[in-house]
Amino acid sequence: MKISRILACCGAIALVSGLTLAGQKDKKGDAEKGKEVFQQCAVCHNADSTEKKMGPGLKGLFSREKMNNGKKPTEANVREKIDEGGQGMPAYKEMLSDEEKDDLVAYLKTL
Ligand code: HEC
Repeated sequence: MKISRILACCGAIALVSGLTLAGQKDKKGDAEKGKEVFQQCAVCHNADSTEKKMGPGLKGLFSREKMNNGKKPTEANVREKIDEGGQGMPAYKEMLSDEEKDDLVAYLKTL
């Protein structure tokens, strides 16, 4: 009786931690949602070319040598640019949630 209770309890814990792990896997950026977030960037950035609008076109961003500010387009540097803005780009640190930024970066990687 007691043992079966303990087993049931372990089973429940395993299930919950399994769900938590699955949840975390989903959380790290969804390019489909990022595309929607990008609508507010699209006024200034082309997604399908490198042609300049207000800011540089972002096609192939992650495979470039460097960005305008001379830094390599690593995920950290791109996130920094989105957070801090500058040189005509607004700062999005407070305007987008962490989740939206994850989605956005996932989308930018597909360009
Ligand atoms: C009001 C216009 C404007 C909006 C809106 C805007 N940007 Fe920008 N962005 C710029 C300008 C201008 C630059 C060039 C800045 C520079 O030369 O350092 C830039 C630069 C960048 C860069 C660096 C590109 C490079 O090659 O150096 C990235 C990445 C970027 N923007 C992403 C975004 C994302 C993502 C959004 C939406 C959350 C966004 N921008 C919204 C104007 C804008």
